[in-house]
Amino acid sequence: MLQYNAVFLSANTAFVALMAAENGIGGDPYKTWALSQINYILGDNNKHMSYEIGFGSKYPVRPHHRGSSCPDKPAPCDHSNLSNPGPSPQLLKGALVGGPDSSDNYQDKREDYTKNEVACDYNAGFQSALAGLVHFAQKGRLPTSPAAKC
Ligand SMILES: *[C@@H]1O[C@H](CO)[C@@H](O)[C@H](O)[C@H]1NC(C)=O
Repeated sequence: MLQYNAVFLSANTAFVALMAAENGIGGDPYKTWALSQINYILGDNNKHMSYEIGFGSKYPVRPHHRGSSCPDKPAPCDHSNLSNPGPSPQLLKGALVGGPDSSDNYQDKREDYTKNEVACDYNAGFQSALAGLVHFAQKGRLPTSPAAKC
């Protein structure tokens, strides 16, 4: 179902598809495809989980993120917090993790930065894609979301 393996690619290409649609390229099929990518990110996937922290009932709790990994001050924080097996002390609400590999495998493991980093280069695409969907919805030009696949 997923054309591109990692969440960062689906978020960014969803945004590109919506920009294209806004500029007269691709039309509703591009918007529907973008919706399917965002649906995948937010839970329509084989793990039935959201890759956005804090969204829905199942999401990552061990992002590869320094601030999120530190206990409340004045408790010390250092590199050892990276290997804390428990959930990160600070919930990084709204952040999108890197997501699954090309075989749709994902582990909520802080040390695995490929799957759990919350980098700007795909969080920006994700935010922009969501803004694009809101834009089309407000203009009454957002097609119905495709049915869930998982
Ligand atoms: C974080 O690291 C500090 C300093 O080593 C340690 O005292 C603390 O127990 C760690 N906390 C977690 C949640 O890993």
